[in-house]
Order: sequence, then structure tokens, then C-alpha cells
Amino acid sequence: NIEQRVAALLAQMTLEEKVGQLNQYSGREVTGPASNRKTTLLSSIRGGQVGSMLNVKGVKDTREIQAVALESRLKIPLLFSLDVIHGYETTFPIPLAEAASWDLDAIRLGAHVAAKEAAASGIHWTFAPMVDIGRDPRWGRVMEGAGEDTYLGSLIAKARVLGFQGEKLGGTDAVMACAKHFAAYGAAIGGRDYNAVDLSPQQLWEVYLPPFRAAADAGVATFMNSFNTLNGVPATGNSYLQRDILKGQWSYPGFVVSDWGSIGELANWGYATDKKDAAQKAITAGSDMDMESDAYSQKLAQLVKDGQVKIDLVNDAVRRILRKKFELGLFDDPYRFSDEAREKQVLNDPQNRVAARDMARKSLVLLRNENATLPLTKTLRSIAVIGPLAKAKRDLNGSWNVSADTTRITSLYDGLSQRAGKTTQLRYAKGCDPSGDSRAGFEQAVATAKNADLVVLAVGETWDLSGEAKSRTDLHLPGPQEELFRALKATGKPVAVVVFGGRPLVFDAIAEQADAILYAWWPGSEGGLALADVLFGDYNPAGKLPITFPRNVGQIPIAYNQQYNTGRPVTKPGDIKYKSAYIDAPNTPRYAFGYGLSYTSFKYSDLKISRPQLKAGEAVQVSFTLTNSGKVAGEEVAQLYLRDLVASVVRPLKELKDFQKISLKPGQSKTVTFTLDKDKLAFYNQQLQWVAEPGKFNLMVGSASDDIRLEGAVELLP
Ligand code: IFM
Repeated sequence: NIEQRVAALLAQMTLEEKVGQLNQYSGREVTGPASNRKTTLLSSIRGGQVGSMLNVKGVKDTREIQAVALESRLKIPLLFSLDVIHGYETTFPIPLAEAASWDLDAIRLGAHVAAKEAAASGIHWTFAPMVDIGRDPRWGRVMEGAGEDTYLGSLIAKARVLGFQGEKLGGTDAVMACAKHFAAYGAAIGGRDYNAVDLSPQQLWEVYLPPFRAAADAGVATFMNSFNTLNGVPATGNSYLQRDILKGQWSYPGFVVSDWGSIGELANWGYATDKKDAAQKAITAGSDMDMESDAYSQKLAQLVKDGQVKIDLVNDAVRRILRKKFELGLFDDPYRFSDEAREKQVLNDPQNRVAARDMARKSLVLLRNENATLPLTKTLRSIAVIGPLAKAKRDLNGSWNVSADTTRITSLYDGLSQRAGKTTQLRYAKGCDPSGDSRAGFEQAVATAKNADLVVLAVGETWDLSGEAKSRTDLHLPGPQEELFRALKATGKPVAVVVFGGRPLVFDAIAEQADAILYAWWPGSEGGLALADVLFGDYNPAGKLPITFPRNVGQIPIAYNQQYNTGRPVTKPGDIKYKSAYIDAPNTPRYAFGYGLSYTSFKYSDLKISRPQLKAGEAVQVSFTLTNSGKVAGEEVAQLYLRDLVASVVRPLKELKDFQKISLKPGQSKTVTFTLDKDKLAFYNQQLQWVAEPGKFNLMVGSASDDIRLEGAVELLP
């Protein structure tokens, strides 16, 4: 029994050995500021002063370092952790892109493949999923999450946890997951990374906490706290978040790791006087493991001896960590994740790449398709593949892939040339760099376009422009990329634009004049193949945006469920005098949450609401007929939104309450049914009670949050 084994081990541990379990250090690579650590790692490990390593990977290296840990007095194995965010060696699309698939099974499979590869390579623990709601595209880390919606984000959080961990921890094809960053990191003021967060309790509970709760309910083994403050208190030193909510109200049994250096940063914030004070505040607030601050290792034992930290707090943290080491089976075999033959076999399994290609296809979002420009017909004689990202490889992987195999990435150009028929010639011109000012390549690009039947233009953000510490104040396509588009468009040739990026980008001429736009995000190592599948029509795109695309940065915040009627709504387009509006831009975004086109069309009809009224304990069935009214097979993500018309706290104009992804052949119809119960009508009132208040609710069914096809109503009775 694990509890008995943990207790027996704890009873043998000295204070220093206990503190040792709470320290985590980075190995060969770094994913945070370089440390000025003085102690040598190997001797600390040998002395039982380290509980976990990050950034060490591969069977050989993990074995070597684990062997050193086993030389320590109590032979407690190390936990090897890594940021396996969207794939390990095989790179899947960035998490935001995966969210655009709205396909929970595929997302779960993606996490499983990543876990399988990592676990075969000595890794026990990934710092994923990031379940932060990301509503501000200036924040570079929106790329790592599931977007702006809490309902979708919570389902994806669960899918990813189950994908990484399996149903029960301990399999050698799974790793521990980590729900991060607890909490509200995505609400950093101004979208600036590491910044303060100022949030109403209702927003915290209703928008930011549910994905964490979903991860905890799915059994996530660990949590990571965050760099930000929450209403004045840094998350790492925040007892309300970690002790009251997580370990208290949610009875969370796992452990909490700090973010990189975030315990030490309590002093930078002005929340602690020095490292010692920071260590005292962090352990008291419930941070169990110290990543790279060296605060626990240097100060915690003394704090206990001085009576400033109760030993019970340390014991509790150690117990939580040891429990996971037992659950992983590391005490029975410390090398069970480090098997060379398995590593070779799993990392070379071609099925991993099949799954990554499929996920990439599912994540692509068709934003525009004038005159059915796409799919490309097989009769085209020549295609000009132009743009700074047309032959890019590294950029397709995006950021946060510390373990990617960068030798096996297919570019868009290579994907298209593998796929184009013998009679279609590809011509290439770079046009310009992805940033900078030079237009020197325009002339050749224009000449190349003139000699082709159609242009595929690849533009966007390079891999280093979104991610941690990559906040931007200007979301336009960098450099002269839009200008390149205008020059190509002026040739009169149809221009299909593929946009790469880690976040919603702003583009004006492209949005208004391109013949087609396919949003590719950063699609991963198989991205070029997936793009070719979609561009040539072998795969019908079905992705829908999990985050709103603004027209310009000034519209932010513009998440769909941050829109309220206000006291002065604009009721007639253009009539904005003394109305809640901008005088220089519409209130509407460029592309709304839930939006995405297909090569076919879908008709929504016959809305039926099973009862006009409901009481507590009852449910309403909202059903309708969905028909593929186009000429090719396709998938549609049908979405159910709700508006609570009058409540004790003003409610958003729309909130997603359910969705289904349905596959239909041309002409085929299906009845789709959503179930709405009282819980789906509820919200946090001013007393922070989760309540559904009697009254009327509008129900909206549609293809996007701004493309509602059917409307009805329901009333909740007292
Ligand atoms: O997991 C990450 C975290 O998301 C940001 N700081 C560094 C950690 C470890 O690499």
C-alpha cells in the first residue's frame, strides 16, 4: 500500500533529506533565466538534496543521472520532467491549433502520442497541459492553451490530462501531467507576460478556474503555479489559491510545483523581503516544489529549525511528492522509463507521424474562400508558391518544442510538391523575409506569379514570435508581408494565402482581398503534408477558431463572451452616437470565436426545444436538423450558445454551452441534440454562489458565435 510505504520512508528521512525532495533543477537545457546556482548538481543529487530534474531527456542521460540519485543514503529516485507541450520528437500542432479542431478524441490521442514518446525517453512528467484561458492575443502564450472559452477549455483540459496520463498513473506509455499555471496567468494586464492580474472574483471562478477544476477532476498528478499576482498576491505565495481552493475546497491530492524561479521572484514583486521570507511564504501558501529558485534548498531547513515553518508543512509537501514516485513505480524500478530498445522503437513508430498529420489537418481553419478558389484543382498547370514561410521548416514547429526532431519537418513547399500531380509545376519565390524592410525580392515574386495559374502565398509569424516572453503590441503580419500580398494580387492571379502563427494575427488587405485564406497556426512537423491535403481537397477543412481575431489591437479585449449588451447598445449599424462603440472601428471582430468555413455548406433547420420551461432537476433537449447542402462530404462543428436575459449579475450576450462535430455526406441530414440542464444556466452571483436564477434564456444554435442559424427560448421556473 502506497500510503504505508510513504509513511515508512518519511519516518527515516532527516529534515535535510525531506527538503531535498522539494527541489527541482534544470539540467542540460534551460527554459528560464540562467541560474547563478553555486552548488554542483551531481553532488547535490548524490547527497539527497534534489527531488526532481527538468530539461534532461533521453534514456542515456536520465539513466546516468538516476544512477547518481541511487547513490544517496535513501536511494530515492528522481522525477524527470520536461515541457512536452505539443509532441515530444514528433511535433503536433501547437495547443491553440489543436483546440481549433474541437475534436476531443484527436486531442487526447495527440497528448497520448507525446506521452508515449516522452515516457520511452526517460521522462516521467510533462509540464502540460497549460489550461490558462487566453483571451488576449497580445500575450504570446495564447499559443499554449485552448483559447478563450471556458467550456471548450475545460473539456480540452480533461482530454489532455487523460491523454498524457491514461486512466491511471503508472503505465510506461504515459507521463504525469501538470495543470498550469495556477491561476489566471492568461489575464496578465495588457497581455504583457509575467504581469499583474486584477480580476473580479466572479471572473476568476467562472472563467479562469473551471479548466483547472476539470484537470483536477480528471486526476491530473500535479499543478504548477504562476508568475503573476492575483489581486495583489503573487500566485506562488497565494494561500487562497493553493491552500483554500486547490488543497482545501477541491481536496487535491497531488503536488504543486512553482514556476521557474517564481519563489525567488516573490522578493522582486515586493511581497517578500528576501529569499528566506519568500521560501517561508511559498511553503506556507502551498507551493510544494521549488523549481530553480534554490530558495527551499538554502532556507527551508533553517526556517523549520527556527520555528518559522512547521515541519507538518514540509512533511505534507514531501508526502505528496513521494506518493507520485511510488505511483509511477519508480521505487520498484527507477529505470522503468529508461529502456533503450523501447526508446528506439517508440520514437520511430510511423503511427506517431500519422496521428500528427491527422491532427494538423483537423486544426486548419479556412477563413475565406471566394469563388471556390480552394481546393486547388488538379488541372492547374502551374502554381507559384511564394512567401517567406513557403519553405520554412523550423517555423512550422512553433515554440515550446524542446525535444523536437528538427530533421524531419515537411515544409509547405515540400508538402505541395509531393502532392501536386505530374502535370502541375510548382514555381517558387521567397518574396521577402518574414521581418525587416527589404522589398528586394518583390520583383522576382511578381514575375513568378505572372507565370503561374495561381499563387499560394505563405506568410505569418516565425516560431520565435509567440510563446513565453513574446508579448506583442502590434499583431500585424511582421515586415512587408502584406505589401507582398498586394503586389501579387495586383497581377490579377488568384492568391490563396496560408497564414502561420502562434496567435490571432491582424491582416487587412489579405482579409479583404485574398481569394482564399487558410489559417495554419504552427501545424507541427507534418504541417506541410497536412496543408497539401487540405489545399488539394483530399481533406475538407473543419477547424473553427477557439479565439477571436480582432481587427486591430485597440479592440482587445474582444473575446466573444466578454461582450455585454451595455446600457447603450448599438442597435442599428452606424448609429453610434452616445452608444457603446468605437468611432474608428466596428465593435465586431475580424473573425469571431467558433468561425471556420468548409468546402461544403451546411443547412440548419427544424429547431425543437423539448419543453418551454424547466425546473431544477429537469433537462431540456434542444434538437435540430443539420444537412450537408453542398457537393462534398464534410464535418461541421454545430454550436449551442445561451444568453441569460435578466440576472442579478449582468450576463454576456453569448456563452457556449455545448457543441458537436458531425460528419455528413453530400445531401445527408442528421438530427443533432443538445441537452441543457440547470447547471448550464448557472453562474456565480455576487455572493460567489453558483446559481441558476429563474427567468428567460435565449438559445442560439449556429455555425459560429456570429453565425447563428436557429433561435429559441426557454424559461427556468422557480
Ligand atoms: O513549464 C514551464 C513554464 O510554463 C514556464 N516557465 C518554465 C517552466 C519549465 O520549463
